[in-house]
Amino acid sequence: MSETDEVPLAESALEARLADVSTDAAALRVLLPAELQPLISDAVVRSHKLYEEFVDRLVLRVARETGLEAATREPASPAEVVARLGLEARRALAPVDWILRRLAARRTVEESGTARRFRSCGAWPAPDPAPVREEQRRHDPSWLPSYTLAETVAQDYPAFLRGEIAGEEVLFAPRRWRLWVDYFSNANGQYAVSNHVGAVGVGRWLPRAGGVILEIGGGLGSGALAVLERLEAAGRIGDVRAYRFTELVPAFLRRGQQALEGRSRRPGWLRCDPLDMNRPFGDQGVRPGDVSVVYAVNALHVAHDLAFTLGEIRRALVPGGQLIVSECVRPHSGQTIYAEFIFNLMETFRAPRLHPAYRPAGGFLTAGEWRAAIEAAGFADVRFVPDIVRVQERVPDYFAAAIGATRPG
Ligand SMILES: C[S@@+](CC[C@H](N)C(=O)[O-])C[C@H]1O[C@@H](n2cnc3c(N)ncnc32)[C@H](O)[C@@H]1O
Repeated sequence: MSETDEVPLAESALEARLADVSTDAAALRVLLPAELQPLISDAVVRSHKLYEEFVDRLVLRVARETGLEAATREPASPAEVVARLGLEARRALAPVDWILRRLAARRTVEESGTARRFRSCGAWPAPDPAPVREEQRRHDPSWLPSYTLAETVAQDYPAFLRGEIAGEEVLFAPRRWRLWVDYFSNANGQYAVSNHVGAVGVGRWLPRAGGVILEIGGGLGSGALAVLERLEAAGRIGDVRAYRFTELVPAFLRRGQQALEGRSRRPGWLRCDPLDMNRPFGDQGVRPGDVSVVYAVNALHVAHDLAFTLGEIRRALVPGGQLIVSECVRPHSGQTIYAEFIFNLMETFRAPRLHPAYRPAGGFLTAGEWRAAIEAAGFADVRFVPDIVRVQERVPDYFAAAIGATRPG
């Protein structure tokens, strides 16, 4: 064995992954507006690359345990892989397709022919995820809740793909509650990026006259806290006449309410109510033209019918009102984003109602799909912070953006 061979494959792969940190960070320093610079520092870019590598190692482990290596010795489409392995097609097709695309990006499998068939590129490596987690612990332990969540989900993934356990049970069983408290938090360095990018959007686009903010899918309240802190720091919190925090899951809503109550400015300023974005808002206490801003962090992409939900949002807004969302924006259609490894377990995430122009598949949308969906719902002046298309041309794995749009007057 030569000296080069003695370098464990896992560690050379890690070094290769980290090789782009300084060039990407330098590009982002030029491309991101000043408000986003402190949020997406060089240290965050390094954590992002580490997490990419960690998730890839988990994906390899899940794929091997599920039998994907053997099932792709001969070229196979995702549907053929699912059939060969006897997986439950309805739930397994989208995640297996995602895993194969992820493995193809890493050249563990190659895509052959035009019919989207995948074939193993020789024997698969088996890199250990643990050293990546340890490197993250040394570098910035605030990202560890995202590691714990991905690792926990990975353990149950093969059983989920075989149809032995529901994805919603894997994610949301009562024993998993702590994972979400730690994950949807501004103390989680990874999730905080989405919350703070969204807060930058609200800081920019809150109408001059202020008004009522309605948040949809507010979860445990970390997105709302980031917004309120940013508006306070900008001296604009007084412009917010009321904050209506809403959420579908009762346990999340209760916890979000607890987190926010300390922030309440006066009786009635904060309202916390259940709201299902898949049902008419009018039936749930939101009247037409009631609010100046509808806000959501990583929630709108789980709408079952995006056109319906955007229509309800438009109706809820006053003329000139603002739709402001923080979203993970897919760089190109077909490209994977690491959070999808976790959220592909949810039927609402992976299987929304499709639309050929702007909802060709489940999961996150591209910038073009967001623009098309929002414009089709009757909004004007769709905009992104940062200029996501320009950023992704230069840094293809960057995805955090705030999206704004105006309800025409
Ligand atoms: C990514 S989380 C948002 C987390 C939140 N920013 C926080 O700080 O905790 C998306 C949220 O959307 C909620 N959600 C899912 N389906 C929904 C629906 N149909 N209507 C409203 N909210 C929904 C989920 O329960 C979850 O809390």
